[in-house]
Amino acid sequence: MYQKPSIPFSILNRRVLRRLYLVALVIVATLVAIWWEKVQTPQSITVTALAQPQTFVVDEPIQPIPLKLALNQSKVALGKTLFRDPRLSADNRVSCLSCHHLSRGGADDKAFSFGVNGNVGNINAPTIYNTEFNAHLNWNGKYETLEDFIQAVIQNPMEMGIQWSVLRQKLQQSPKYTQAFAKNYSDGLTAANIKNAIATYVRSLYTPNSRFDQYLRGNKKALTDAEKEGYRLFKANGCVSCHQGMNVGGNLYQKFGIMGDYFRDRGNITQADLGRYNVTQDEADKFVFRVPSLRNVALTSPYFHDGSVKTLEGAIRVMAKYELGRSLSDKDTLLIAQFLRTLTGEHPELN
Ligand code: HEC
Ligand code: HEC
Repeated sequence: MYQKPSIPFSILNRRVLRRLYLVALVIVATLVAIWWEKVQTPQSITVTALAQPQTFVVDEPIQPIPLKLALNQSKVALGKTLFRDPRLSADNRVSCLSCHHLSRGGADDKAFSFGVNGNVGNINAPTIYNTEFNAHLNWNGKYETLEDFIQAVIQNPMEMGIQWSVLRQKLQQSPKYTQAFAKNYSDGLTAANIKNAIATYVRSLYTPNSRFDQYLRGNKKALTDAEKEGYRLFKANGCVSCHQGMNVGGNLYQKFGIMGDYFRDRGNITQADLGRYNVTQDEADKFVFRVPSLRNVALTSPYFHDGSVKTLEGAIRVMAKYELGRSLSDKDTLLIAQFLRTLTGEHPELN
């Protein structure tokens, strides 16, 4: 009986197998390379792990703030002292605390704050709480990191108005500071370390465990039915398309006045009103602002970059009109305000 030779088939099989081996080899080599990379850079991994919040992922457009961030407490304490020290300003009268009142939501209750030499700023002081979770800093998003921001605020003539070299010399006269910097930093009292200490303290100003976060973490009783309805309306009306993520804002740019001309209606357009245009000089960025965080928003009146609206309900109406082209009923406005009040979190200095 004639049997078909099976050789060609086994050659084919062997070829397939060889290819499979090759593919497997490439996968193993890639995995080893990834592993090696991780083993090689343990330092950078630990450093970023400290700054990165551990996210608690929920199936909602808003995420809860981490309950605890790992921060160097000794640097936090040093930054806390600097934050309150008026020697950080040219005339020894203004500290960070002058404009960012920690017990009033981390903002100022004035539309525009007073800086060094009594200069009045041209934009409302935003909250300093939870700034670490904002993708961009300032109303116009000019800065990406707290360190860059602090670099600028120290020299800003409307705020601290002091040269770094002068500030360093001033602080060097205080043995308390030289000792504290020597304890925390191998190179002692430098501009970079002043920035780092203040930034570390600002990072400690986060406000977890708001009633809304408790709700997101699974405690359905943390909100009343009216507050839950307010959250539903916040989503259904589209507020959440701009105010979302862990900070309920802070991660997008949008024009203020998409559905109506807010600035024409308000009048007296200022340089600050040009928003992101002041950073990019791009016509398309005129009147564009970073969508602000709504965390602790019940405590940060007056509202908007121009500090023009005193009540939360008023701010919600402006948003509905100019950002969404809707007029909300009084009932829905109150319900959304009730929801926004559940975003007030916990921090020993918050209230
Ligand atoms: C004179 C009042 C004033 C002083 C003093 C002041 N700030 Fe501010 N701060 C502001 C204003 C106003 C803004 C908003 C500026 C803008 O958007 O153009 C701001 C913004 C910020 C922001 C960005 C917040 C965000 O989410 O965008 C941080 C962080 C901050 N300040 C920290 C500090 C620190 C740290 C100090 C002390 C070194 C300080 N500020 C001193 C008024 C002040
Ligand atoms: C298209 C994007 C967009 C939508 C939609 C939107 N907002 Fe805003 N929201 C912004 C921007 C941008 C600002 C900052 C405006 C400014 O002051 O320049 C802001 C500011 C606010 C403020 C003031 C915050 C502060 O600290 O001053 C509140 C409150 C607010 N929004 C609530 C809402 C509510 C409630 C809704 C839904 C009815 C809503 N927003 C819809 C973009 C949006």
